[in-house]
Amino acid sequence: MTEAIHRYSVLCIALAVLISSTVCLAEEPKQIDAKRIYNNNCAKCHGRFGKPTKRGKRLGAPNFSSRFWQVSVTNEQIIDAITYGKNKMPGWRKVLTTEEIKAAARWVRVLSPRKKR
Ligand code: HEC
Repeated sequence: MTEAIHRYSVLCIALAVLISSTVCLAEEPKQIDAKRIYNNNCAKCHGRFGKPTKRGKRLGAPNFSSRFWQVSVTNEQIIDAITYGKNKMPGWRKVLTTEEIKAAARWVRVLSPRKKR
């Protein structure tokens, strides 16, 4: 009798773990990889390290690796330009989600030159 109860409770725990882990997996948001988003969508004009490519230069893309450029724009301007586009730059609101656009904007800041110490 006690053994039956014991076996039953073990089964219950196993079932509970199984259910909760599948629920957790289902609810976990898609992992956003800022670098990958940037390299896949932006690097063809802006370059992997923020220096514009030939194509980007021709279109008038700025140099993200310049400290002067970095201090000249706000995060809002960066997100706005990515979302809606700016002059020769296409907008990305139909291609990327809001979260992905924010991640790309974060990556543009990562390309900022490091402060000299
Ligand atoms: C087809 C080439 C092209 C692609 C692809 C492209 N851009 Fe641009 N981007 C430009 C050009 C050209 C400008 C300069 C716009 C201007 O100021 O006239 C620019 C400007 C910008 C700016 C500066 C906006 C400002 O306010 O000065 C940011 C930030 C930016 N791009 C981010 C991105 C990100 C992030 C991606 C990828 C999701 C991307 N760009 C993809 C061409 C491109």
